[in-house]
Amino acid sequence: MKKFNIIIGSDHAGVDLKNFLKTYLEQENYNVLDIGTNSTESCDYPDIANSLALHIKNTPSSIGILICGTGIGMSIAVNRYSFIRGALVYSPESAKLARQHNDANVIILAARMFENKENLDFLNAFLTADFSKEERHKKRINKLGYVYPDSKENIGKC
Ligand code: RB5
Repeated sequence: MKKFNIIIGSDHAGVDLKNFLKTYLEQENYNVLDIGTNSTESCDYPDIANSLALHIKNTPSSIGILICGTGIGMSIAVNRYSFIRGALVYSPESAKLARQHNDANVIILAARMFENKENLDFLNAFLTADFSKEERHKKRINKLGYVYPDSKENIGKC
């Protein structure tokens, strides 16, 4: 399995799932950076999403994991950044397709909607899938504002 550098963050609603996933990922020899939060004291999901986006900007090959109660707040917050393609997933299939079709670089999990084990299955489906690199998917992703440096159709647009 290809190993990524992983940046993981949650609000208070996701801290238990974050710790559960972090333990698993470290056992699997991923390089994990935990950006918090680290308690169940109430905090604001945009602060964590903004912090994760900055880390991804500095290390673009990293994969991000964001967790809140529904995943919705984190999804809204992190997708404001043009270099983020964040996928709020709801099944192993949706997680796999988020990589294969959308080249998602952040997975967003809903701690209060699924059991930890279910969320782990979603995460594993995401981490073990690769972007298909098919032109039709690249073209659609380019329309989101992301430009693939190796794509001929982008000459003059970068
Ligand atoms: C926290 O209570 C909850 O609102 C938050 O985790 C998230 O679900 C927001 O979208």
